[in-house]
Amino acid sequence: MGRLKGKACIVTGGAKGLGLEFSRTLRVEGANVLIADIADGAEAAADTGALYKHTDVSDPAEAADAVSACIEAFGRIDVLVNNAAVFATLPVARYDEIDPDLWDEVMAVNVRGAFNMVRAAGPHMERQQSGKIINVTSGTVYKGMPGMLHYIASKGALAAMTRALSRELGPAGICVNSLAPGLTLSSSIVENTEHVEAARSKVLSSRALARDAYPDDLIGALIFLASNDSDFVTGQTIAVDGGSVNT
Ligand SMILES: NC(=O)c1ccc[n+]([C@@H]2O[C@H](COP(=O)([O-])OP(=O)(O)OC[C@H]3O[C@@H](n4cnc5c(N)ncnc54)[C@H](O)[C@@H]3O)[C@@H](O)[C@H]2O)c1
Repeated sequence: MGRLKGKACIVTGGAKGLGLEFSRTLRVEGANVLIADIADGAEAAADTGALYKHTDVSDPAEAADAVSACIEAFGRIDVLVNNAAVFATLPVARYDEIDPDLWDEVMAVNVRGAFNMVRAAGPHMERQQSGKIINVTSGTVYKGMPGMLHYIASKGALAAMTRALSRELGPAGICVNSLAPGLTLSSSIVENTEHVEAARSKVLSSRALARDAYPDDLIGALIFLASNDSDFVTGQTIAVDGGSVNT
């Protein structure tokens, strides 16, 4: 408790699923949190004590508004968690059944959304000469997985952005890292059982620690990447997946 006391954080996609648990954790550790989600986050905000700003991260103006709201409320931006994604609601589909418009939508949220947020928050962090950007990627980048080509391509782009941004923002003392969960039984994915049914048995047999993963399993890595404990760690990926992939 208190490891992030007074830090100002934005969690995109923080209204539900893993993002809600990330927001709760940051609050428990003493941080001020703004949830930026296209979904209604009023309940999440009341539940965690965070602020909520309705935000479509794929829209540059809305991403900028979310960052402005954070600066207005907390005076600074210390931690940006790029968690928003088109994910749990995506139907599993062969590569040749993916509609090109859906491909574009996935890229607009998962890749351009993170870019929009960094584009808005980065200059504030540069002025502060400090900041942590945590990109939520996925173990699927390293393993591949049939039926999710749009999603996996988008997370691959985000992983590449982590490396490039770490070099670009390092001189300003800003750390940029990826947190790569394996299949994790978030409330969102439990509601959309297709993913669990498609992947669970293969995932479990690929893990050194062969059990299901829950949102709590990600918390330690999140706190580490958000806190001063990771001040000399940048451009890295921490996979939290029971040893399924080696990044
Ligand atoms: N749960 C897993 O198994 C798993 C595994 C690997 C990676 N991840 C990643 O973790 C993150 C959270 O996943 P989750 O399990 O909570 O699923 P999820 O699909 O519920 O999470 C996505 C969140 O992003 C929000 N969002 C969608 N479009 C948005 C937009 N345009 N603007 C702002 N917010 C938007 C959603 O409302 C939701 O809150 C995602 O980035 C996902 O890719 C999850």
